[in-house]
Amino acid sequence: MKFFIDTANLDEIREAYDLGVLDGVTTNPSLMAKEGISGDANVLAHYKAICNIVDDKVSAEVIATDFAGMVKEGTALAKIDDKIVVKIPMIKDGVKALKYFHSEGIRTNCTLIFSAGQALLAAKAGASYVSPFIGRLDDISYDGMELIAQIVHIYQNYDFETEVLAASVRHSMHLLKCAEVGADVVTCPLKVITGLLKHPLTDSGLATFLADHAKAAGK
Ligand code: E4P
Repeated sequence: MKFFIDTANLDEIREAYDLGVLDGVTTNPSLMAKEGISGDANVLAHYKAICNIVDDKVSAEVIATDFAGMVKEGTALAKIDDKIVVKIPMIKDGVKALKYFHSEGIRTNCTLIFSAGQALLAAKAGASYVSPFIGRLDDISYDGMELIAQIVHIYQNYDFETEVLAASVRHSMHLLKCAEVGADVVTCPLKVITGLLKHPLTDSGLATFLADHAKAAGK
């Protein structure tokens, strides 16, 4: 299972990378805005800065919603660095753009997936990844995890190469459930990854080990 971090914050990306378990980064226009990044040149430079930190797979989202605009923007994003994965929204022109980028050998991440039908369409169009949003479905009383399991099952039935990138992951239990149902990738905030570290028995067990060691050494 791959771990991506869902942020445009360079410090958090560095911290996750230094932990040694990071496989990629996802961003979206809201996350870029949160870091105060605006203007075409600044946005491209920020993506380059992210690519300089990690080994591969940096999702950069297009803003255009028409086919020609998505192709133009996505092509420019892909030129920033070989690590870029062009993020395309699940809309009609987006499906066409997925097909276009597939034929050009440019990797894509189809975002804003909220149904298995949308995931099927994106896979048919050759998306490298689909991003179903767990938390946002949970927020409106639908079972986000059920959707992940359904998409994993459908893709296995037909050996689709598209990877299931579970998104809108809000806590460590989401991440663990994704592992159970076989999501290929999880993208989440840093605190969800570091949350996996925590267990009170680890902390108390380590404290006892260190205390016993000190006692035996006469300290
Ligand atoms: C996915 O790529 C999105 O950036 C993200 O996971 C959305 O998460 P949110 O619902 O917490 O905003």
